[in-house]
Amino acid sequence: MLHAITKSPGGKPLLLTLNNISREFSLGETRVQALRDINLNIQRGEFMAIWGPSGSGKSTLLNVLGLIDSPDRGSLNFDGQEVRLLSDNELSDLRSHKIGFVFQTFNLIPVLTATENVMLPLQIQGVPIQQARERARHWLSKVGLDKFHAFRPDRLSGGQRQRVAIARALAIEPSLLIADEPTANLDSRTSTEIIDLIEALNKETGVTCIFTTHDPRLLDRVPRQLKMQDGVISDDNYANYLMESK
Ligand SMILES: Nc1ncnc2c1ncn2[C@@H]1O[C@H](COP(=O)(O)OP(=O)(O)O)[C@@H](O)[C@H]1O
Ligand SMILES: [Mg+2]
Repeated sequence: MLHAITKSPGGKPLLLTLNNISREFSLGETRVQALRDINLNIQRGEFMAIWGPSGSGKSTLLNVLGLIDSPDRGSLNFDGQEVRLLSDNELSDLRSHKIGFVFQTFNLIPVLTATENVMLPLQIQGVPIQQARERARHWLSKVGLDKFHAFRPDRLSGGQRQRVAIARALAIEPSLLIADEPTANLDSRTSTEIIDLIEALNKETGVTCIFTTHDPRLLDRVPRQLKMQDGVISDDNYANYLMESK
């Protein structure tokens, strides 16, 4: 396995490198070029938003970054590993240990309590039940839900459900947190709170965080903003970001 020592121009180690990534979809007769020749470096520990209009390719890019979808062309390096050289098993191992996912619709299991929802990915990894429970309670307290650990999702507000989902994603202690429109189903005040929470957890744990949004009002506290338009990155304030983070 190739373990390249990859450093960004700013000197920090890189978590993700994309070279000439393209992704095309066929819809009947027509072809949609969802990503066109994307080049992108993401440092460890970055807090980053991908924003832009609906249909611009945000989710497709996020799915490629989260190793859920594979590009048609180009190369993707994750944590020093060239992704296209990995077997299916290696890929799913990488995904389940190193990447935490948060979704627009929360995707909690309704019959399980908050604690049990957070425990689930840990149990899948083989963490013993008592340890999984303690870690789940720890992460629930980190997202401010100490008092709600025994609640099922139907007794929680939208913002609280998303906090459970964030705790579940981070409980595996991933290198990367990926959130596709995590605030799309939340009111504007709760949306800001969720982004602030992700920012605080990024600062505290150093986990690289990338979320998508179509709402530019959420970009205030996000140091790196990637704007997507028609499958290309039309703006990336990386240069400023690197200057500031030196
Ligand atoms: N599974 C798919 N099959 C066909 N077309 C798709 C698929 N996923 C995305 N697309 C198309 O790719 C383009 C980008 O979509 P997407 O990445 O979902 O954009 P965004 O998240 O910015 O709204 C859109 O034109 C969309 O219709
Ligand atoms: Mg989308």
